[in-house]
Amino acid sequence: MSVYQSAPTPESSAIIAKDFDFWYGDFHALTGLDVNIARNKITAFIGPSGCGKSTFLRCMNRMNDLIEGTHVSGSMSLDGNNIYAPGVDPVDLRRRVGMIFQQPNPFPKSIYENVAFGPRLQGVTSKSDLDDIVEESLKRANLWKEVSNQLSKDGLALSGGQQQRLCIARVLAVQPDVLLMDEPCSAIDPTSVQKVEDLMAELAPEMTIIIVTHSMQQAARISDYTAFFLQEVAGEPATLIEYGQTDAIFTSPMDRRTEDYITGRFG
Ligand SMILES: Nc1ncnc2c1ncn2[C@@H]1O[C@H](COP(=O)(O)OP(=O)(O)OP(=O)(O)O)[C@@H](O)[C@H]1O
Ligand SMILES: [Mg+2]
Repeated sequence: MSVYQSAPTPESSAIIAKDFDFWYGDFHALTGLDVNIARNKITAFIGPSGCGKSTFLRCMNRMNDLIEGTHVSGSMSLDGNNIYAPGVDPVDLRRRVGMIFQQPNPFPKSIYENVAFGPRLQGVTSKSDLDDIVEESLKRANLWKEVSNQLSKDGLALSGGQQQRLCIARVLAVQPDVLLMDEPCSAIDPTSVQKVEDLMAELAPEMTIIIVTHSMQQAARISDYTAFFLQEVAGEPATLIEYGQTDAIFTSPMDRRTEDYITGRFG
């Protein structure tokens, strides 16, 4: 049984998982997840390595479909529509639910072409429209000032922290409703971490953001809601232990295991 402390209501949620389970082949990785993800807020997923944070995140844009032998049960909806229903186009879903990974993965193309890539695929051909999208996306990703006079430079020639913000700009260029960030700051420099946290705060009023982080300080600093996951027994599925407003989770956790984790007793 998961414990909830002023968790988001269904009405205020963009994503709703109900009695959700996930398997990699025979391995039952996640069980019994009932989670509402608040619309246009920042939600942090925390928990020890291997507790299924990335797996659950990838369920939200059906990235796990790309792994042979995976399956789910229960339901997961985005704005009230079941994302696992037959007829849902995973490619369209992934445009609406964009993802950022731990290791920045720009294309081996110019900064401009990295950001213009998605809009071009969507059929935007006008040079001035593309210019506007590229500038706007780089501004929102907090990178424009650093690259505005070198847009033809190879994206891979940027620093790691700049590459991560370029990847964020690339996702923003196709106007997602949800941004999934899987440890986006763990491989980048402190200045870029600050810039990524700043841009998350700037985006949140109009975008639903979920961030997986191993930094308790980061979760406490930037998120509105925090979900703590745990796999208690090796080989058994992980589940949600406690979920609610970040302040409540960090100041008065109701489950002993949450308290032990956030105070650094394990994990
Ligand atoms: N492609 C895969 N095939 C089979 N099992 C997998 C696969 N990816 C992850 N797992 C398993 O699923 C469980 C959850 O893994 P997951 O990567 O989601 O954990 P995590 O909480 O993100 O961990 P970390 O904090 O280390 O990133 C682990 O037992 C892991 O070994
Ligand atoms: Mg992970």
